[in-house]
Amino acid sequence: MPLQTLSPIAAGPPAELLFGDWYPALRSGTLARGRTRTALLLGIPLLLGRKNDGTIFAMRDLCPHRGIPLSAGWFDGETVQCKYHGWRFEPCTGQCREIPSLTSADSLDATRIYASSFPCEDRDGYAWVYIPAAGEGRIAKALPPVPELPKFSTKFRSAHLTADLPCNVDHGIIGLMDPAHGPFVHQAWWWRSQASIHEKTKHFEPIPEGFRMAAHAPSKNSAPYKLLGVYGETITTTIDFVLPNRRYETIRAGEGEDAKWFSSLTTVTPVTPSTCRIDVAAAWNIFYSVPFVTSIATFFGARFVRQDQQTMIEQAEGLRHHPSLMLIDDADKPAKWYFALKQARLKGTGEHPLSGPVSLHWRS
Ligand code: FES
Ligand SMILES: [Fe+2]
Repeated sequence: MPLQTLSPIAAGPPAELLFGDWYPALRSGTLARGRTRTALLLGIPLLLGRKNDGTIFAMRDLCPHRGIPLSAGWFDGETVQCKYHGWRFEPCTGQCREIPSLTSADSLDATRIYASSFPCEDRDGYAWVYIPAAGEGRIAKALPPVPELPKFSTKFRSAHLTADLPCNVDHGIIGLMDPAHGPFVHQAWWWRSQASIHEKTKHFEPIPEGFRMAAHAPSKNSAPYKLLGVYGETITTTIDFVLPNRRYETIRAGEGEDAKWFSSLTTVTPVTPSTCRIDVAAAWNIFYSVPFVTSIATFFGARFVRQDQQTMIEQAEGLRHHPSLMLIDDADKPAKWYFALKQARLKGTGEHPLSGPVSLHWRS
C-alpha cells in the first residue's frame, strides 16, 4: 500500500508577535473555583485556574523539573501538583512549595524553585494574561494597565462573542480595520446592501500607539445606527485602534447618566504565530428595559462575526500558497499604519506613522 500523503498544515504563514502586553486567554466565567483549564496564547501553552479564594492564575503548562504539562497533574484549589514526581506549586507566583522526594538530609530549598507564571487579571469577562518579552523574566516592573471596555453608566447590559481565525494575527487585524469589505461580506437586510455603497470621508488622528477615527455622525445606511437615532440626539462615534490588537468603538447620544451609549472592545489575539482568535466584548445601556435584547444582539453580532470568520477561512486557502499581496490607498491606509506602528514597537523607535490629523476617502 502506498504511503499516504500528509496534508499540509491548514494555516497560512506566521506573523511576528508582540510580547510584553496583555492578551485575553479565555472567558473568566469558565474558570470555576478549584478547577483548571488549558489555553494557547502566542504559542505558549497555559494552565489557567481559579483558587479557592477566587483569585485566577495563569502558569506556563510545563513542569520546570522534566517538562511534563502541569495540566496532567492535580489542583486542590491552593496548589498545582505535578503528576510525575509530585512537586507542588503555588500557581499565582509559580513558587515551589514541596518536593516529596527530599529528605531531612537534603539541603535543597524547594521554595527557591519557580515554575513560570504570568500576571493574570479578570476584566470584562476575560482572563487577561500578561505575556512578557523574552528576558523580561520575573523582574518586577510596572506593567501597562489591563485593557478595559469603556462604560458610561452604572447600569448596562453586555455580551461576548468569539471566533477562531485560521490566519495570522496581522491578517486578522487588517481584516478587522478594513472598511471596504462591509458591503460584500456583511450583506444583510438589517445591516446594509451593496446597492448602498457611497463615497465617504473619514477623519483620523494619531493617539499613543494607535489612531482614532474621530467623532462623526455614523453611517446613515447602517440599521443599528438608525436605532440609536430614535433618541433624536447628536450621535458621536469614535473608533480607536491601539497596539497590540485592540479596537475600541463607542457610540454615544447625549451626556451624563441619561446618555445612551454602546461600547465594544474587539481584540485579535495570536493563538499561535499563524492562527488567531477574535473576541468581542460589548456593553450598552440602550433598550435597557427591553427583554431578550442581549440574546438578540448576540445573535446578530454572532452572524456578523461568522461572516468575517468564513471569509478568513476562505482567505487562508489562498494564503497557504504564499501569494504576494497589496495594500492600496486610501481604504488600506489604516492597515499600513498598523504595520508601521508594529514595526515601531518592535524596533523601539517610538515613531508614529501619523504626524497629525488626516482625512481618508473611500467608497463603502
Ligand atoms: S516532572 Fe514535574 S515533578 Fe518531576
Ligand atoms: Fe467585517
